[in-house]
Amino acid sequence: TKKAFIFDLDGVIVDTAKYHYLAWKKIATALGIEFTHEHNELLKGVSRVRSLDIILGLGNVDASQEQKDQWLIQKNEEYLSYLVDMDQSEILPGVMTVLEFLKANHQPIALGSASKNARPILEKTGILSYFDAIVDGNDVSNAKPDPEVFLQAAQKLGISNENSIVFEDSVAGIQAANIAAMTSIGIGEAAILNEAKFNFQDFTYIDEAFLNSLINN
Ligand code: BG6
Ligand code: MG
Repeated sequence: TKKAFIFDLDGVIVDTAKYHYLAWKKIATALGIEFTHEHNELLKGVSRVRSLDIILGLGNVDASQEQKDQWLIQKNEEYLSYLVDMDQSEILPGVMTVLEFLKANHQPIALGSASKNARPILEKTGILSYFDAIVDGNDVSNAKPDPEVFLQAAQKLGISNENSIVFEDSVAGIQAANIAAMTSIGIGEAAILNEAKFNFQDFTYIDEAFLNSLINN
């Protein structure tokens, strides 16, 4: 059977979650808002606009739309500055092996990311050609945990939701996959991603037997 294998980007394929954190931290610090790694968990998988609102909420900061727009631009410029030298070395451990295995087994692969910077990242890391469909922050109007991004991805691949598998590092993303009745696979801390159907610390723990079981189920 053909299954849709849908990958989140930040924190799943590439180690960019740390850059999002650093860029937000800079904005938060300038505003006198404490912003910890724990707070950052709330931002994973969440859109840029919503992330800023969450941070401002942490500090009870009110701001005009113009001011917010300025911070959003600042955040993205700071974030992009970390990506200038990005190459395939930023691809997380085990990801290439899994992508290669899925390709060799003719399984459709999609990206399902909230990021508007997804395409340049796939280009810089040299893996754009692995993806049969890309759905990112430019395509959706409803952010995770709304399942829109994954529904669009499965649709583009022509595969039913029940036959779709989602790799996610965020709580919001796992919830989105579950709402869509897709198989959710958490990548990262099991304690945080406890709503996922399966959980792995990283892709090096995902072996061919497991992938075959997903394909043949
Ligand atoms: C998600 C990240 O993948 O994309 C979030 O987990 C980020 O941290 C969101 O805010 C939007 O990304 P971007 O690149 O459009 O700011
Ligand atoms: Mg992510």
